[in-house]
Amino acid sequence: MPLRNRTTLTQYLIEERRRFPGSSGDFNSLILDVALACKAIARSVAMGELGGMYGDQAGVAGAAVNVQGETQKKLDVLSNEMFIRISQWGGHLAGMASEEMDHPYQIPAQFPRGKYLLVFDPLDGSSNIDVNVSVGSIFSVLRAPQEAIDTGRDVTEQDFLQLGVQQVAAGYALYGPTTMLVLTVGNGAAGFTLDPNLGEFMLTHPKLQVPEDTQEFAINASNSRFWEAPITRYVDECLAGKSGVRGKDFNMRWIASMVAEAHRILMRGGVFMYPRDNKDPSKAGRLRLLYEANPIGMVMEQAGGRASTGREPMLSVKPDGLHQRIGLVFGSKNEVERIELYHNEPTEKHNDNPLFSERSLFRI
Ligand code: AHG
Ligand code: MN
Ligand code: MN
Repeated sequence: MPLRNRTTLTQYLIEERRRFPGSSGDFNSLILDVALACKAIARSVAMGELGGMYGDQAGVAGAAVNVQGETQKKLDVLSNEMFIRISQWGGHLAGMASEEMDHPYQIPAQFPRGKYLLVFDPLDGSSNIDVNVSVGSIFSVLRAPQEAIDTGRDVTEQDFLQLGVQQVAAGYALYGPTTMLVLTVGNGAAGFTLDPNLGEFMLTHPKLQVPEDTQEFAINASNSRFWEAPITRYVDECLAGKSGVRGKDFNMRWIASMVAEAHRILMRGGVFMYPRDNKDPSKAGRLRLLYEANPIGMVMEQAGGRASTGREPMLSVKPDGLHQRIGLVFGSKNEVERIELYHNEPTEKHNDNPLFSERSLFRI
């Protein structure tokens, strides 16, 4: 396809900015920095074993562990550094936060401070890095509190604890057979494919729309014994297929890279669930609110899909910690609404009684 028929990411951003004639251009520069970080990460991921970056990051004793208690891969750490190095100098940011850093990152004194906060998961789907399955980066842009912008003070964890609806922009890059960037600046969601010859993201998927209905769901079924009743009910009904209340067969997928599942759902519909469960009472879910659930949630909603905790809209959850975990359900609107309905229906009393649980004395 000749270049003249394609819109570049830069052109898309400039055209979007024309909606706000007073804007400074900081925001566009920030998004272009993020896109550059993603291109750099894409190259490192694509080098695979040849890049010498497979395996765990060395720590003080054994492998390094992040604030969540998860082993860090070398590429997790490298990707985090790329985000920082490429976005810190431009004067657009007041601070950053990431899965791989315990506390907010302060913009070094030699660089000007700006008005935005960048929150990111530098590499999502880490368990897939060494096995050459798609991984990605997820990012969210927030506005810093006005007083932090005015004074140029250090950012605090509190500054980042904003509702998902307050995100100025969000998106992800997917490092798959092609590298893609999916972005929302609050005016729909658009997909760009990296042209490897030019090193440019080209608009290939304008106005993404998630189909409202689906026959495909994604969940890690190895956790089924820990699920809450509404999720068990939903999955059971999907598995019953044509013979059950849904009256249609469902297909199941689990990549273990949320970013790749989000992309599949944006392309052809589906529903993703990593719900709150009883596996570890200290964790309200597996995935993190600020740099996984909220940005993917904004992309989904901007594409006509829905994102939820199962009980309430994801984007209206008040965060209480930088690395807070949360139950996450997103995708085709009608399925997410059905799952919310199941959570909000009063559960029948006998569900809690072990005598009446599945495969008990009282059920055959
Ligand atoms: P991360 O690699 O950033 O820690 O996130 C991995 C997440 C997510 O991408 C995926 O959906 C989920 O972990 C997979 O979890 P299981 O290993 O429990 O399937
Ligand atoms: Mn992740
Ligand atoms: Mn990660």
